[in-house]
Amino acid sequence: SSPLKIAIAGLGTVGGGTVELLAGHADLLAARTGRRLELVAAAALERPAGLPLDGVPFYTDAREMTRDADYDVLIELIGGANGIALDVVRAALERGKHVVTANKAMIAHHGVELARLAELTGANIGFEASVGGGIPVIKALREGLAANRVTKVMGILNGTCNFILSTMQETGREFADVLAEAQALGYAEADPTFDIDGIDTAHKLAILASLAFGMPVSIDAVTCEGIRHVSALDIRYAAELGYRIKLLGVASLSEINGELATDCRVYPAMVPLGFPLAHVDGPFNAVVTEGDFVGRTVLEGRGAGAHPTASAVVADLIDLACGRVGPAFGLPVDRLEPRPTAPRGAGRAA
Ligand code: HSE
Repeated sequence: SSPLKIAIAGLGTVGGGTVELLAGHADLLAARTGRRLELVAAAALERPAGLPLDGVPFYTDAREMTRDADYDVLIELIGGANGIALDVVRAALERGKHVVTANKAMIAHHGVELARLAELTGANIGFEASVGGGIPVIKALREGLAANRVTKVMGILNGTCNFILSTMQETGREFADVLAEAQALGYAEADPTFDIDGIDTAHKLAILASLAFGMPVSIDAVTCEGIRHVSALDIRYAAELGYRIKLLGVASLSEINGELATDCRVYPAMVPLGFPLAHVDGPFNAVVTEGDFVGRTVLEGRGAGAHPTASAVVADLIDLACGRVGPAFGLPVDRLEPRPTAPRGAGRAA
């Protein structure tokens, strides 16, 4: 049958990993989906060296590619909540083209609006890669746990911070020294303050909470504290007391006076050694959920980096190639529960 025609916008760490995966597994993906997953256009500020892009039309203007190229699905890997990323995603959806993105900032800020736009034009928007790198956490919450009232979702959601904290723990080195290493390994955001101030975790938590609770949880309702001030000494004392310091995102759903309320927080937490998140080290992420029928579930895996994140991007492409598609947040936007009340005094995440 006909190939799935793919245009890719953004050829940085994740974009490069995605191009490599599509080339390296071309035959496997074709065998699994019954279609070739074919790159028909690529856009980046500069043509990167060393990627298998021979013969793929190249654009230096992602907006132009999105508007003019002939494709079925746009992969958006530019990043940023607004700007070019949001422009090209809106433009593609308006043309009725599918979108796959790893952009947690954009989904946290505009996900519901984009899901609504996709519904209107008959397109789909997939964002498995936006949270947890290669861990299939979006699918798990949206589909696997859909029968439950999920009351808690919490996790280690930033690979950079987890790498920094666990390397500080192992080596006794200080924060600033380890940050440079995380950046060199390709885990950190273009602006690493998003990682270390907890903003990236807040974006991901808002997305997970929206899926877990079946309601649009606003990024404005997430309180946020990062890890800048955590010292090697804090980590050593915590260890002596039987804890690991981890940057957690924690979202809970409760009923107050008959109304559903969410509480979403990002903070460096003392995690007891016996808790499933305590031994998740390096660039790994893990997500713990509590559902009323299923009880606790734990998902763990590589949360950042080119190939793990590409694995999630291509999982969304496979769904599109196979016609396994549905509403972005599991329910049509109008059937999500009303926006919940946020606790009084909740601060802004970004
Ligand atoms: N900067 C992010 C992290 C990349 O460190 O987890 C993956 O979203």
